[in-house]
Amino acid sequence: MDLRIKTFEEYQEQYKKSAEQPEVFWSEIASQFSWKKNWDITLEWNFNEPKIEWFKGGKLNITENILDRHLAGNANKTAFHWEPNDPFETSKSITYQALHDEVCQLSNALRKIGIQKGDRICIYMPMVIESIVAILACARIGAVHSIIFAGFSSQALADRINDAQAKVVITSDGLNRGNKQVELKSMVDAALKNCSSVNHCIVLNVTNTKVNWESNRDLNYHSLIENEEKNCSAEVMDAEDPLFILYTSGSTGKPKGVVHSCAGYMIYSAYSFQNVFQSDKNDVFWCTADIGWITGHSYIVYGPLLSGATSVLFEGIPTYPDAGRFWEVCEKYKVNQFYTAPTAIRSLMGFGLDFVNKYNLSSLKVIGSVGEPINEEAWDWYHTNIGKKNCPVVDTWWQTETGGIMLSGLGNLSPMKAMHAGFPLPGIQPVLLDAEGNVIHENEVEGYLCIGFPWPSIIRTTYGDHERCKNTYFSNYNGYYFTGDGAKRDKQGMYRIIGRVDDVINVSGHRFGTAEIEDAINMDLSVIESAVVAFPHDIKGQGIYAFVVVENSDVKTDVELTNSIIDCVSERIGKIAKPDKIQIVNGLPKTRSGKIMRRILRKIAEGERSNFGDTSTLLDPEVVEQIVDKAL
Ligand code: WTA
Repeated sequence: MDLRIKTFEEYQEQYKKSAEQPEVFWSEIASQFSWKKNWDITLEWNFNEPKIEWFKGGKLNITENILDRHLAGNANKTAFHWEPNDPFETSKSITYQALHDEVCQLSNALRKIGIQKGDRICIYMPMVIESIVAILACARIGAVHSIIFAGFSSQALADRINDAQAKVVITSDGLNRGNKQVELKSMVDAALKNCSSVNHCIVLNVTNTKVNWESNRDLNYHSLIENEEKNCSAEVMDAEDPLFILYTSGSTGKPKGVVHSCAGYMIYSAYSFQNVFQSDKNDVFWCTADIGWITGHSYIVYGPLLSGATSVLFEGIPTYPDAGRFWEVCEKYKVNQFYTAPTAIRSLMGFGLDFVNKYNLSSLKVIGSVGEPINEEAWDWYHTNIGKKNCPVVDTWWQTETGGIMLSGLGNLSPMKAMHAGFPLPGIQPVLLDAEGNVIHENEVEGYLCIGFPWPSIIRTTYGDHERCKNTYFSNYNGYYFTGDGAKRDKQGMYRIIGRVDDVINVSGHRFGTAEIEDAINMDLSVIESAVVAFPHDIKGQGIYAFVVVENSDVKTDVELTNSIIDCVSERIGKIAKPDKIQIVNGLPKTRSGKIMRRILRKIAEGERSNFGDTSTLLDPEVVEQIVDKAL
């Protein structure tokens, strides 16, 4: 199944067709997949409810498109080269046939413990092949997977398990990360104390750590699948049945479960993968994301496997055992397309070129970036030193909610401009709106980035709360999906993402809502209230700056308070969300009606010490002076 566009002219034609006849355009692509029954209606939609149905009436199973379909010609093709955290440990690879067999074994085992179509399963796992098996086994039997990044705390895990009312958790004893090990099973044990929906916890041995065992709940992965058949009938799924839930942060409240559907997500993850990376049949693709984020879902698991590609799956981190690890792995597997995040590039830049130049990177054809805006210096470094000025940099803009890449160059077909994501993929209709919600038609403008027409992998709902989906994405601007990002469009029509325009912070490519971090900080018993804003950070892109008002601040020193606040955030969300700066303040700048003036706090966090604009609505201007005096 080759879905690739081959020239820029063809891109332009396809784009035009996708805008003029979206149903025809997507039907032709969809018909290249295996269906158990063809669809009756290609698209029904309205953005008001919202209700979006693609390929209505069609029946399929995504794993037949990933596994069974490839067995005829490609059974012995490598699906994954698994590269361990420790370079001296033996690497492994798995063929499509072997992946099929193990997925079937686990699917059978899951059915035996009572899992049925529609049940939810949480996956809290390291970057190992069995995690991919777990994902696909869920999809095989129609269970809805919800992967929770293994850097989240047990409390965050419990919140997500409870929201999804998961019946099973799949985890491992522990995980390897650089020179550290993390005990995942004990985190799950703590979480499950408060999760009554979970009947079973399946545990894979990874670190061979001794774990606590609850014999009526816990099941060992290896013993569970050992005697199972290597064939398993795939559940018949409706095109619009949910495939997975993935929790992500927004500007208000607790993280929400973004729901993706079986058929639409399948088609768009494969289509965008093949077109953006332009990978050939025998290429080796490497996406360095974690499977716990959408990038891992779409471009480690679904897109490449649907395309029958060979990928690298890396257990470790870019700086272990040293800052040359990414490039060593690229050389080892002769990686052709490499896809990473600006934060990784910025951190590796700091270690110097010796770590790069030791390795032969001549296999690279396309290098990609995702997750946050890439600054010029990082873009140049990546293009010059990794791509040797020979590889296009695809700066791919998209979101958990979009399911796949929306704005990006297509391999070496498209014009490239530093820091610009570029043109929309076929099928994607971006618009820029002004503050009043009017569409800006001209070029060389800036506005709120919205999408005017559904694409196959658009978010369908937020799990258990459809109203929230409507309010977050479809109510700000009537008739449009609102991305939460601001963007510029240049003379040629290429897009450049500026960043979030809502209260979402992007730390090293990880999304957090300021409210979510504030809630965690406020759990500290000494804290009265807090306000969190972003500040520019050289490596992380954005850092977290917390202004905190505490009770009776003489009792504890600022250092004690800071440590205890950091502990609170680590417990509530995970270490990945801990503030970089915490300033204990006497009060927060508020308007007379009690609203925190975040604009002022943002300026202070960015280093501004005066010129706060109109402060006439401030209840107590002195508060600002006090904060500025001690700003970090
Ligand atoms: C940001 C990650 C600039 C953006 C796939 C978006 C980007 C949020 C880019 C989604 C990019 C993602 N350039 N900004 N190439 N890619 N973003 O859901 O603010 O984890 O709204 O999905 O990341 O983050 P999410």
